[in-house]
This record gives sequence, C-alpha cells and structure tokens, in this order.
Amino acid sequence: MSGGRTLHRRSAATGAAVWSPLTIGLNLTRRNTPETHNAPFTITLLGGRPVTPPSTARAGGADTANLLTDNPELYERQFPDPEHRAARFVADLVERFGDGPRVYDILDVGCGTGRDLGRLVALGHRGTGVDISAAMVDHARRHWPAARFHQSDMRSFALDHTFDVLICLDSALLYCHDNADLLAFLARCRRHLVPGGLLIAEMRNGAFFLGNTELLDATTTRDITWRGVRYTSHTRLWIDHAAQLLRRRRSWQWEGGAAPLEQHSAWRLLFPQELRHYLSSSGFEVLALFDEPGPRTDTPWCFEAELSSRLSGDRLHVVARRLG
Ligand SMILES: C[S@@+](CC[C@H](N)C(=O)[O-])C[C@H]1O[C@@H](n2cnc3c(N)ncnc32)[C@H](O)[C@@H]1O
Repeated sequence: MSGGRTLHRRSAATGAAVWSPLTIGLNLTRRNTPETHNAPFTITLLGGRPVTPPSTARAGGADTANLLTDNPELYERQFPDPEHRAARFVADLVERFGDGPRVYDILDVGCGTGRDLGRLVALGHRGTGVDISAAMVDHARRHWPAARFHQSDMRSFALDHTFDVLICLDSALLYCHDNADLLAFLARCRRHLVPGGLLIAEMRNGAFFLGNTELLDATTTRDITWRGVRYTSHTRLWIDHAAQLLRRRRSWQWEGGAAPLEQHSAWRLLFPQELRHYLSSSGFEVLALFDEPGPRTDTPWCFEAELSSRLSGDRLHVVARRLG
C-alpha cells in the first residue's frame, strides 16, 4: 500500500507523482486503477460549488455503480493516459500476434470513454465500442465521431458485424462476476470475431492476492479539504472468498452534505489457469498470458517487450485466437 495521504497520481510518462486538484481521495495501491482508487466527486465538475453528487447508475447485473463511470470527463482526469499507452499496447499486440501491420477492425467491449478506440482509429484502424453505461457511450460518441458506439451489456451484445480484434481493457472483463457471466461474455466474443480473430484483455490478476494482503489490511480514512469543504472517505477492500470477488465499499461525507454517500463495487478474482480454461473451453487458443509489461504495470509497455509468464504481478494480460 502506498503510504500517507495521496493527493497525487502517477504520471504515465515519468511515473512521478503529479498533483491532481480533482483527486480528493486516497490511493490504496501502488498504482492508480479503477478497482482501487478513491472516486472523486462529480461536484468538482459542476463549477466548484459543493452540490449533492448525482445518483449513480447500476450497470446490468454487474455492480458497477461508480461516480467516475457516470462522469466520463472525471474518469479521464483521474486516469490520464497522455501517451496512449493502452492503445499502443493493443496496436503492438495486434501487429505481433496478427498479420503484421495493416488496418484492423477492432471492437472494444467495456470501452468506457472511448479514448483507446479513438486513438486506435487515429492510428488507422476501424473502431466500434460497446459499454453498458449511457454516460460513457454518450461521451464516446461526442468525442470520437470516427468510431461507432453501442450501449449494451458485454454478456449479451449482438452486433451485425464481425471483427478482426476484440479488446477488453482495464478489468472490464472482471465485471463478469460469475461463471455464467464469463461464459456468456466469451460466447459473445467468439460470435463477434472472424475465425482466427484476436481477443486481447487486460485486467487485475487474481493470483496477485495469493499471499499478498497489502490492499486488504485495513479500512482507510482520509480527510481532504477542497475549495473550502472538507471531505472524508472511508474505503475498504476485501475478498469475498465464496463468490471469488474483490469487493470495495467506500463512503463519503462532506461538510454541508446530507447522509454519507456509500458505493459498492466488485471485480471477479480470476486466476491465470482459470482464464486459460475458460478461453479454451470457449473456442479460443491462448497465444500469450503475461503479467508484465502492460499499459498499467511498473515496467512500461514497449513494442519489443519480453512477456513475463511469472504471473505473480497485479495485472494479467491475455492474447487469444478464435479457433475454427
Ligand atoms: C474500468 S472501466 C474501463 C474502461 C475502458 N476499457 C478503459 O480501459 O478505460 C470499465 C467499463 O466497463 C463498463 N461495464 C461494466 N459492466 C459492464 C457490462 N456488463 N457490459 C458492458 N460494459 C460494462 C463500465 O461502464 C466501464 O465503462
């Protein structure tokens, strides 16, 4: 766990701590990822006056209520990717495991703000995105008109098109909480890929939690004053062993606010061998399974990178090919 009050995020470029005036939470992790960061408030986008945060939406069966998902600009402020590392990661892997450099038709499932897809389109590829959040899809459509976006659930989307590549980044896949969700999602992936098409996913690594409790040890309380208002957050992460989920509860209180705002999220804890099994039983051949490097790892992603199959790191990356 990173120590002390964290009003910083890491620069993707340098890894150095960067002051982030919108970040009024704490960083429980070595790295700032959606699973573990503290969600800042929507109020910061509304002119700086403390107002009641809007209610957050529930995303299908997945408990993804999240102020960031409902506020895409804030999401991008919280998780900047100025060097387009996630898009480069995809573009490089596609070239490496696909047919080399050419234009690929790419589907991004759980596409969020559309920023990765937008960048991939700017690199010359064709892009389509799917996300369950109306706010995200609306934002993506407005910001990336060269790509197409659909509001749909990753477990049931049905597009009238097949793609060369399907991507699912930043733990979006882990909103498939149970085995049936995972199988439904993988069936959708297979259905939307051409034979030989690539599935590329990037997520938290369940195996990281084997013997590693640094993220789970305590409820963390922080006070922060922003524009004259003090906000207090209490955040706790724990493992729901029976459901095999990483769960997060966070409550916020602030001066002048009403009752505390409490939010819950959960991510499937998926282990590497489990992922391999689900992929092979769903008609995919695993081409690469690695923990480093990736777009969100300490070792920065680069084209020629050697892929580590140690699989003890906190991120899990997979490249699989549709068989048949
Ligand atoms: C952590 S964000 C990642 C966004 C994007 N892939 C990125 O890397 O920036 C997870 C996204 O998954 C979406 N999501 C959650 N559950 C979903 C579901 N059942 N179907 C489709 N999208 C879902 C959320 O709305 C959110 O935009």
